[in-house]
Amino acid sequence: MNDPAPIKIWNEYDRPHRDLREFLSRIERAGELLRVPGAHWNLEMGTLAESVNERPDAPAVLFEDVPEYPRGFRVLSGSTNSMRRLAITLGFPVPGHPLDVVRAYRDRMKTHRPISPRVVGDGPVRENIVRDGEVDVLKFPVPFLHELDGGRYIGTDDLVIMRDPEEDWINCGTYRVMVHDAKRLGVWMSPGKHGRQIREKYFKQGKTCPVLVSCGHDPLLFLAGGNELRFGLSEYDYAGGHRGEPFEVIESELHGLPLPAQAEIVLEGEMVPGDVAPEGPFGEFTGYYAGGRSEQPVIRVQRIYHRNDPILTMATPMRPPSDFSYSKCVMKAGMIWDEVERAGVGGVKGVWCHEAGGARMFNVIAIKQAYAGHAKQAALAAASCQSGSYLGRFIVVVDDDIDPTNLFEVLWAMCTRCDPAEDIDIIRKMWSGPLDPRIPRGVTWNSRAVIDACRPFEMLADFPPVARASPELRAKVEAKFRDILSKL
Ligand SMILES: Cc1cc2nc3c(=O)[nH]c(=O)nc-3n(C[C@H](O)[C@H](O)[C@H](O)COP(=O)(O)O)c2cc1C
Repeated sequence: MNDPAPIKIWNEYDRPHRDLREFLSRIERAGELLRVPGAHWNLEMGTLAESVNERPDAPAVLFEDVPEYPRGFRVLSGSTNSMRRLAITLGFPVPGHPLDVVRAYRDRMKTHRPISPRVVGDGPVRENIVRDGEVDVLKFPVPFLHELDGGRYIGTDDLVIMRDPEEDWINCGTYRVMVHDAKRLGVWMSPGKHGRQIREKYFKQGKTCPVLVSCGHDPLLFLAGGNELRFGLSEYDYAGGHRGEPFEVIESELHGLPLPAQAEIVLEGEMVPGDVAPEGPFGEFTGYYAGGRSEQPVIRVQRIYHRNDPILTMATPMRPPSDFSYSKCVMKAGMIWDEVERAGVGGVKGVWCHEAGGARMFNVIAIKQAYAGHAKQAALAAASCQSGSYLGRFIVVVDDDIDPTNLFEVLWAMCTRCDPAEDIDIIRKMWSGPLDPRIPRGVTWNSRAVIDACRPFEMLADFPPVARASPELRAKVEAKFRDILSKL
């Protein structure tokens, strides 16, 4: 299962970007990077991330010349958050419609094979190594993102890297990491997340849990770390499979964990059973501060590895849209489509996880119905597969004449093809967590509404026709009146 994937296309480039810096030069050439000098870490970066990402075609933002910090220390927001930047990250052809990237992802997964990282002796991440007493995580311009946050967050577009003590594989998850002080961090992992399961294994054995936190890296690693993969599949291997070649890693000094060799900033430390401190609140992807403040394990930082002129990567959860919510829609959609097909369900024509639902709470799957029960089967698979399960809410299944990315069309289908009493099912006790604003504190499960907005299969033959001009008539009439219509 570890053969290099036969990836032929790497966008308009003939090979994957080597690191975040080469990626930045590619997106800058594509007109997808905005440089912003002078933004302060205290609330200005977070507010600008909000403001920029409310605009159509928002670029990535590189914060430079950060007040109070050395020239050259930078912060990047929104690395993957557009159709084009995602295509550049993953090496897909230039997309014209959001579903082009989703389709390209699903096509890629037909030949994708995980590729394990290659261990090397040295790399740019070791240009600077800070040890023990010299450690100060605030040497970087760590942002304080939203007004009600409980602290500065160094880990948002991050990778929390741990080795499973029983099954010996490496998990790299994106979990928020707050700064307590120069040498101590707090990490918040929701129940069920792989990093949390791994940490619990160490603690149950009475052992400290070694950990790396990468805070600036190739955006491919962020896409892997921030989305649910199957338990046991390392994000390094999955992301390597998308590159078509292995990531290079270096063994960390203290715990022998794999540092991404080209990373910008990596922190090494450990979590000790019983050592906890208050973490949060933090503005969350649902648009609330539901998780509040709670006692969470502390990471004691023992080493900092960083490149010269390091770039801290940031992703800012907030009421959507945010600087990563669009990219999440596309990735989730591709992953759910892939998983539903792998489960054996055919006829899927599109999937979209709407940004208003944080790419989790309002997901739409379009199918060409082939038999009675097909629509429900597809919807249930989409609702419960690994990438579609956590903190879901509404799953809508539509016919293939509906564009799942178009909310107007989806709502029209719900209004006209769904009879609520017959076509909405409620599934109880599904995977959720403390960030869900609608469930009581302390509860970590919720329910799902599965909305069948397809024409009922048994009515397909005589369902009323759609009242719109045929494509041929439309093209003919629009061609005749092109001059007038072009003025609209
Ligand atoms: C920007 C961003 C921030 C996230 N923050 C958290 C977090 O603080 N805690 C958490 O449990 N999941 C968080 N997630 C979701 C996890 O990254 C996601 O569920 C991922 O699959 C976790 O890795 P795992 O599947 O290996 O557990 C975040 C995702 C993104 C994209």
